[in-house]
Amino acid sequence: MTTIKLARDKDSEFVRQVRNEVAAQSINYEYVSIHEHSVWWKKLKERGIKLYVIRYDNQKAGYIRINTHSRNEISIAIIKKYRDRGIGRKAMSLLPPEKYIAEIKTNNKASLHFFKNIGFNVIDKVYILQKGK
Ligand SMILES: CC(C)(COP(=O)(O)OP(=O)(O)OC[C@H]1O[C@@H](n2cnc3c(N)ncnc32)[C@H](O)[C@@H]1OP(=O)(O)O)[C@@H](O)C(=O)NCCC(=O)NCCS
Repeated sequence: MTTIKLARDKDSEFVRQVRNEVAAQSINYEYVSIHEHSVWWKKLKERGIKLYVIRYDNQKAGYIRINTHSRNEISIAIIKKYRDRGIGRKAMSLLPPEKYIAEIKTNNKASLHFFKNIGFNVIDKVYILQKGK
């Protein structure tokens, strides 16, 4: 059974580890140290970030992060061994019924498929511009 519950302080290290597991698979994502993570964790409230821990059969399986200061922007991560079992879909269905948005890099096809398959619609595409090094 899949459940979600607002994260508590004791979940902090789990969230860091999942974040880093996902980071390892992504070129643009930076590894988060214990120190950086604890600074971020202490400011969750003031930054409007809501974090849910996802459990599957009572084992921690991932998290959902929502930025309430930025249109309820959502991100989700499930640890590898629990993927492809419908846990992400179920966890997302347990969120309070509000409007959520997901911002996805165009090269992240897997994530785009996931969000589309669970009912999100593409409402915009963005340009990323750069100048200098
Ligand atoms: C994306 C992620 C959260 C999916 O979680 P999951 O529990 O494995 O997904 P589910 O099993 O609930 O799948 C739900 C739907 O998404 C689709 N989906 C899931 N992973 C997918 C992938 N890698 N590629 C294509 N489609 C995928 C499934 O096919 C399923 O659709 P269906 O039910 O119509 O067949 C998980 O793979 C993950 O944590 N990835 C790394 C982090 C990430 O990219 N997060 C998203 C950006 S914030």
